[in-house]
Amino acid sequence: MKKKILILSGGISKERLISLDTGFQVAKELKKNGYKVKIVEPDNSLKKIIKEFRPKVIFNALHGQFGEDGYIQTILENFGIPYTHSGVIASSIAMDKEISKKLFIKHKINTPKYFTYSFDLKKSYLLKKIEKKLKFPVVIKPLNEGSSVNVYICNKKNIFKILNTLKNYKKIMIEEFIGGREIQVAIMGNRKLGAIELKPKRKFYDYQAKYNSNAKTEHVIPVNLEKEKLNQITNMAYKAHKVIGCSGVTRSDFKYFKNKFYLLEINTQPGMTKLSLVPEIAAYKGIGFKDLIEWILKDATKKK
Ligand SMILES: Nc1ncnc2c1ncn2[C@@H]1O[C@H](COP(=O)(O)OP(=O)(O)O)[C@@H](O)[C@H]1O
Ligand SMILES: [Mg+2]
Repeated sequence: MKKKILILSGGISKERLISLDTGFQVAKELKKNGYKVKIVEPDNSLKKIIKEFRPKVIFNALHGQFGEDGYIQTILENFGIPYTHSGVIASSIAMDKEISKKLFIKHKINTPKYFTYSFDLKKSYLLKKIEKKLKFPVVIKPLNEGSSVNVYICNKKNIFKILNTLKNYKKIMIEEFIGGREIQVAIMGNRKLGAIELKPKRKFYDYQAKYNSNAKTEHVIPVNLEKEKLNQITNMAYKAHKVIGCSGVTRSDFKYFKNKFYLLEINTQPGMTKLSLVPEIAAYKGIGFKDLIEWILKDATKKK
């Protein structure tokens, strides 16, 4: 009998479209390889669908809120069917940029200086705090989004205008701006899979630079780094993966400036379209899309 795989994709996060693409690509590959595949949205009908379809593994192709932050993972735990990527706790820690940063700092993984802001300070105090702790420009970002959604580089002139647009978030992160290069590292279970460098033509690696091929971000693999430096960055990603307790494949995003790596975040549900970075790193290491997906499915059956 054909192995049945249920793919969760879409969802309610701001990364819905990316998730639909990941789900579609994974489904296409699995179908090609003889699996029986069903793609569903994670809504109230999920329990009924799982009962009827009885999948062997659930491939979680969701990104962002509700799909990557421990919520859906909690629901999936209750069904008792193996699901891909990280479990409840690791997903919720990794999705929270403040909590994961605290863990990076505790474990001496270098990360940009920051503070969080709850729209509770007078403008003049906020400016003073930035000048004292971080200096301009700064990067402003939500604590729990992805795909560069609502990430802004701000200076003294535009910061309040931008903050005003972010008031729906209870709390946001204000981080020191790190110039230099943009490098991302994939970890696959216990394997330090490798790194890729992104050279955006835009001001930074924003949503357009990530997903709009007209924005022409250049992907560079292998990354031009000395062996020792490459080991250093892959070790940092590996440590972050382990410290947070991640499973399956993760992708850690770094800046590299003046000979120093800065870990921005770790992603527990990295994009899995054929053009995404983890599949590109895997392919460079001789692991094709098919083998990558099969490894992820197999890994799901191990206890998280
Ligand atoms: N402190 C920073 N200094 C410079 N660039 C940053 C900084 N933080 C984020 N960026 C830019 O914004 C992008 C998205 O930020 P990141 O923290 O990875 O959030 P997301 O979860 O949205 O991917 C990064 O890939 C980088 O290009
Ligand atoms: Mg990122």
